[in-house]
Amino acid sequence: TAAGLPDTFGRIATDLRVSLTDRCNLRCTYCMPAEGLDWLPRPEMLSDDELIRVIDIFTRLGIDSVRLTGGEPLLRRGLPDVIRRIAGLEHAPRIAMTTNGIGLDRLAQPLAEAGLERINISLDTVDPERFKELTRRDRFADVERGIEAAQDAGLAPVKINAVAMHDPTGRDNPADLLRWCLDRDVQLRFIEQMPLDAGHTWERDRMFTATELRGLLEERFTLTPLPDEARGSAPAELFLVDGGPETVGVIASVTAPFCAACDRVRLTADGQVRNCLFARDESDLRGPLRAGASDEELANVIRANMLAKRRGHGIGEPNFQQPDRPMSSIGG
Ligand code: GTP
Ligand code: 5AD
Ligand code: SF4
Repeated sequence: TAAGLPDTFGRIATDLRVSLTDRCNLRCTYCMPAEGLDWLPRPEMLSDDELIRVIDIFTRLGIDSVRLTGGEPLLRRGLPDVIRRIAGLEHAPRIAMTTNGIGLDRLAQPLAEAGLERINISLDTVDPERFKELTRRDRFADVERGIEAAQDAGLAPVKINAVAMHDPTGRDNPADLLRWCLDRDVQLRFIEQMPLDAGHTWERDRMFTATELRGLLEERFTLTPLPDEARGSAPAELFLVDGGPETVGVIASVTAPFCAACDRVRLTADGQVRNCLFARDESDLRGPLRAGASDEELANVIRANMLAKRRGHGIGEPNFQQPDRPMSSIGG
């Protein structure tokens, strides 16, 4: 088998991110409107059999790790079975998931048994009122239970993803979230918000930067940067908190892009390959798949898409264009 999927800038993709559905049970204000979005009709989504076939082809091309995303991946029916089938492939990849955590209290154990190894859970605040404002749903307690269940199921280390935000009311402080995570032994990573919101309201001048975030955290904690080798191709820069051993991560996707070390490729729930979060052109796998294409023909679509991958996301450059698909349908 191949060693991975090369592009023309010397990078090799080994990590496939699979969106299992574009639906979500939260309505994070920075992500989608209160009424939700026009969800993909079911016939347009890859069936389980189609999904497994495509993932199998990716693994033959050298993909060795698969991250399941959404929308909200826990909303995919028969999820434990999908995971079991991925884990049972001839070139079985490592399997991880990024989720909002709702429903994990019941699912964590079955998912772990099916072959899920690691889980990242999104949580932007530990103030239940603020959670309700931000997500438009009163479900903080569900997420809290989900995190506990993931830990109990041995999905270690549980990581928490928080979009870095400044609460205009001053009530909520990112340092509270860090304290909460330190107390529960989960690894927190803050993420700079990128222009991927459905409403296209993101503005560079208004975004809260990693530097500003560090300033807020350093009012309460001492942060010591870890050397870059600790990081590899991972997007987060890590800091020891108060001398360690606990760490906090900062994913500065906008102000310090990690595109040069990118090892990712994506598959959307409707069967499109995307070589980048910000890709403008996708390649359709579903059409040829349903028309009877061979594995080799589908592999060629994937290879060709990777060769069109651009050097970087280009945020802030004059001709930057936000992709048509929002984050919830690309898969984070
Ligand atoms: P680990 O293997 O646990 O480090 O996972 P991860 O950080 O790659 O995955 P996760 O889904 O938790 O991603 C965290 C955040 O990183 C996402 O919410 C995105 O904001 C950001 N991110 C993920 N992939 C990309 C990417 O390809 N490009 C950019 N710029 N940001 C990304
Ligand atoms: N920029 C960065 N991260 C985002 N997320 C959602 N929208 C954005 C954005 N515009 C995060 C979610 C979750 C992950 C899948 O992506 O909060 O942690
Ligand atoms: Fe759902 Fe994630 Fe979007 Fe929030 S950010 S609404 S959890 S898809």
